Amino acid sequence: MTASNPLPTETYTAEPPVIDPAAYRAVMGGFATGVTVITLGSTNGFRLGVTASSFNTVSLDPPLILWSLALKAPSLAAFRSHDLFAVSVLANHQKDIALQFARPAEDKFAGIDMIEGANGLPLIKGALAHIECRTVARYAGGDHEIMLGQVVSLRRDDYAPLVFQGGKFHGLAEV
Ligand SMILES: Cc1cc2nc3c(=O)[nH]c(=O)nc-3n(C[C@H](O)[C@H](O)[C@H](O)COP(=O)(O)O)c2cc1C
Repeated sequence: MTASNPLPTETYTAEPPVIDPAAYRAVMGGFATGVTVITLGSTNGFRLGVTASSFNTVSLDPPLILWSLALKAPSLAAFRSHDLFAVSVLANHQKDIALQFARPAEDKFAGIDMIEGANGLPLIKGALAHIECRTVARYAGGDHEIMLGQVVSLRRDDYAPLVFQGGKFHGLAEV
């Protein structure tokens, strides 16, 4: 671990330059990401999942990842009260799964093949990676909450990734 961070946790001001929300969305939509489904609970008991493209790696030592969840998301309370969660990194044949976990539904898991992770967490079968984590910090991030997770278990398969850019799903092409 390195020395403590000298930066304040939030450096933006109450009166930043005015950024038009539509321009913000259009510009940020140009940034391509992978697509994940983040789940908590157990395979046969209480469980929930959300589609998230805000996932990213943070630190190798210790192994830390982050993602962020909208404050208005119905699942926020559960992610605040459950420390263990799993990230299924979706493969390029799993667009329908991304859409299913992005819509509110009585049972978002209906019709989706799940497997159980090393820590009992529900994982999406056929994903290109499974990363099980323990939330070690939660930060305010405007209209989202940022979750920092320490990786406790991980594995990957040899699938191509699902990519999200410009509000659409894509495959990956080598350049
Ligand atoms: C490709 C894609 C990526 C998304 N990424 C995020 C994200 O990173 N954070 C977030 O809060 N919502 C994200 N969403 C929206 C949530 O998946 C959606 O609001 C979902 O309904 C939240 O689950 P809940 O209603 O069970 O709380 C994304 C949606 C899509 C289609």
